[in-house]
Amino acid sequence: MEEKKPKRKKTHARPRAGDEALSSLLNTHGYLSGETLSKRLGLSRAALWKRMARLREKGFQIEASPGLGYRLTGTPDLSEEELRILLKGRIWGELVFLNETSSTNDVAMELAAKGAAHGTVVIADSQTLGKGRLGRRWASPPGMNIYLSVILKPDIDPKSAPIFTLLSSVAAARALRSVTGLAIEIKWPNDLVLDGKKLGGILLELRLEPGRVLHLVIGMGINVNIPRSHLPKELKSTATSLLEETGRAFKRTAVVAAVLKELERELDCLSREGRGPILQRWRELSSTLGRDVSVSLPDGGSVYGNAVGIDNSGLLMLRCKDGLMKISAGDLTPSA
Ligand code: BTN
Repeated sequence: MEEKKPKRKKTHARPRAGDEALSSLLNTHGYLSGETLSKRLGLSRAALWKRMARLREKGFQIEASPGLGYRLTGTPDLSEEELRILLKGRIWGELVFLNETSSTNDVAMELAAKGAAHGTVVIADSQTLGKGRLGRRWASPPGMNIYLSVILKPDIDPKSAPIFTLLSSVAAARALRSVTGLAIEIKWPNDLVLDGKKLGGILLELRLEPGRVLHLVIGMGINVNIPRSHLPKELKSTATSLLEETGRAFKRTAVVAAVLKELERELDCLSREGRGPILQRWRELSSTLGRDVSVSLPDGGSVYGNAVGIDNSGLLMLRCKDGLMKISAGDLTPSA
């Protein structure tokens, strides 16, 4: 008998009580009188004062001026409250913010197994055991970068899972391009690069049942404000950050919001139009298609050839001297 597929729990990002005060301040240039705010939020002046004090504790700079009211003069670099407002009404329902964790992917996999909804997002300021591709470590110092994992529960066959890595790299590249104006590209399989230097990466993890994906977790690490001096020694010549490339610091909340909005767009596109447009965008953003490359394989070997394309499931098609090869994992280096 065919097993009935469980219904996907759907939630949408919604502001919490305290967020309404912040939302009003964020949408106002200049002062908002205490009276207007109290009325709008249905709060006494004392309760409003307490709410402002709580926001200040979270790093929001709020000026209070007798006779004029309240004015927002600064926001923290990474804020759960502001992100919830920026994502209001989108599919990203539950936001889990952690100061420090082992790995946001591990937390998301655990939460998903315990029933967390499709669209749950886990963000950490730092990770102690950040994971990269091919069993590597992902350096995750606090206060500088983005470490983000999202839980998806799509109704798909395991064979269709790789498209989620491709669509995530497309979403991240497009979001970072629009936030920074930099011509960020994708290096196969899913590195975000600028002039060949790595800005970020994506790690997809899955929990499967025969013939079905129970849940998948897309983990993204993006180097935002890390100065070169703080990059691990072995990465100094191969990695970079938005700060290094532009000379300015970016607000992590805004970058996360841009990435999640693009990710939602690509997911919508997948369900409406299938994988074709996503593969097309991936190819357009690719830094390596058409070039001669060498690929180091996970077994220690390496192959050399022309990167002629990716197939429908994201495998790299390499034209080598012995014919066409399809490669599922490895590290690609373009030939000079
Ligand atoms: C890569 O090797 O290129 C993929 C790196 C993915 C790193 C991110 S950071 C957030 C999430 N949690 C992890 O432990 N890894 C991913």
